[in-house]
Amino acid sequence: MLFDSHAHLDDRRFDKDRDEVIANAKKNGIKRIINVGADIKSCYTSLQLAKKHDFIFNACGIHPHDADTYNDGIEKQLVEIAKEPSTVAIGEIGLDYYYNNSPREIQKDVFARQINLAGRLGLPIIIHDRDAHKDCMDIVKAEKTQNMKGVFHCYSGSAEMIKIIVDMGFYVSFTGVITFKNARKTLEAVNAVPVNRLLVETDCPYMSPEPNRGRRNIPDYVKFTALKMAQIHKLKFDEFCQILWDNTHRLFDRLPNSSDMIK
Ligand code: NI
Repeated sequence: MLFDSHAHLDDRRFDKDRDEVIANAKKNGIKRIINVGADIKSCYTSLQLAKKHDFIFNACGIHPHDADTYNDGIEKQLVEIAKEPSTVAIGEIGLDYYYNNSPREIQKDVFARQINLAGRLGLPIIIHDRDAHKDCMDIVKAEKTQNMKGVFHCYSGSAEMIKIIVDMGFYVSFTGVITFKNARKTLEAVNAVPVNRLLVETDCPYMSPEPNRGRRNIPDYVKFTALKMAQIHKLKFDEFCQILWDNTHRLFDRLPNSSDMIK
């Protein structure tokens, strides 16, 4: 009963065994996956994956690393991909001041443009924020439409920032990072999020949780992260997985209804 809300199965680290990884995920109880685009090429491959597998959905957006590739032509392509019924969000979009692969001014501009695009399309946003918390919050607050929903993926901010995110109506998603020994600050953040605003993800092939830290991550490992989150919130694992499942469907409301949803 698990939903991996953020995967990159189009990554070249899956080129040798992609079909096998996807089949195993399904066999091992990963009931739905959102494959998230990062550049325009991966937006198309994510769409192809979603068309090929009925339990995979896709998101399209230009990652801050590739912000300097953004132009009107790319935006038109994103609009086309977003028309497909399997596309459930615009993402991942945001700011990355750790790598600064694109100039910051361009990252900010492209982030704002894609939030506006999501507003026009009526889709939620998947936000990548690395070492850019203040600018990221400022842009989201300034650009979001009133009813827009979104998620801060692979959350690395403070517990204090959680309150602002929750007040905006947004969700917070965590990766295997919370299973690492030095994760104290992130554990406090998990604890600060109301359970009905939590999501879980792998961000595979990156961020593999313990006991597989350092190895290639796969959707199956989302269970280790969900287990840790359930412990922090003192909930039974099955009950918590149901909550995560419902949260993910509430946020990404273009997902088809599931008979497994309780609300
Ligand atoms: Ni990602």
